[in-house]
Amino acid sequence: MNKCTFTLNNGYEIPKFGFGTYLAEDKTLIESVKIAINSGYRLIDTAAFYNNESALGFAIKDSEINRNELFITSKVWNTDRGYKQTKLAFEKSLNNLKLDYLDLYLIHWPANKKQFSNAKEINAQTWKAMEELYLEGKIKAIGLSNFLPHHIEELKETAQIMPMVNQIEFHPGFAQVELVKYCQKNNIIVEAWSPLGRSDSLNNKAIKSLSRKYDKTPAQIILRWIVQQNIIPLPKSTTPSRIIENINIFDFELDNDDIELINNIKESNAECANPDEVDF
Ligand code: A2P
Repeated sequence: MNKCTFTLNNGYEIPKFGFGTYLAEDKTLIESVKIAINSGYRLIDTAAFYNNESALGFAIKDSEINRNELFITSKVWNTDRGYKQTKLAFEKSLNNLKLDYLDLYLIHWPANKKQFSNAKEINAQTWKAMEELYLEGKIKAIGLSNFLPHHIEELKETAQIMPMVNQIEFHPGFAQVELVKYCQKNNIIVEAWSPLGRSDSLNNKAIKSLSRKYDKTPAQIILRWIVQQNIIPLPKSTTPSRIIENINIFDFELDNDDIELINNIKESNAECANPDEVDF
């Protein structure tokens, strides 16, 4: 692997590849995290909403890797938005994880106008709490998840600190080109959730043909397509062989034409969520 981290806009280093944990239940999660760490994953992504922070905390304590070599992310859930609630939610996450700092803390979803007439104010207050936690040294980097350019522009009106990361849904058929361009232009590192489109993208015809061409699995083709765009994929798996397979993508390169081919995939049966329309 070349340099295996990106430098965030505050100078902190973030691994170029991560491990997703959504829907992993405690016992399986502990086993999968152990395999992931042993296979070279250093970034592990959870959220209060995933309800597995305590299990992840156990897996971290149980691992033979020093805490400062790991990069742990969590997120404040939608029912905890706002200044006071965010601070409480953060302490709860930290306590569940049995850690004394987080590497990255994200706002899981922006409050949207469909649900809240004061959405902009709610997001600003949530962000203010994140900024203070960051300045107190309890979080090494702060960021967003599922924010569209217009949410970020609104946030900028009151923010003292620019977000360092935006974690978005990103997979073949849902490449969110304009959003990625906007983030990268604004020095915000993009992370990809559901990079395999909840495994739907693995069956795409173009992906299958590239898999034959490069003699790599469909998952490896997709994950390689993501890292070549300087985006951090967060694939999830609880299958040991797949956990290992997914991170083994640093020994080949896709041609520009093949990147374009994947960029042009239109269909996806995955979530393809619009943050302005969700009602949770
Ligand atoms: P499993 O956990 O049984 O291995 P996404 O990260 O896009 O949400 O996709 C997660 C889904 O993709 C899970 O159902 C996971 O199944 C499956 N998956 C992860 N890695 C691979 C892989 N290398 N090959 C096939 N399926 C995979």
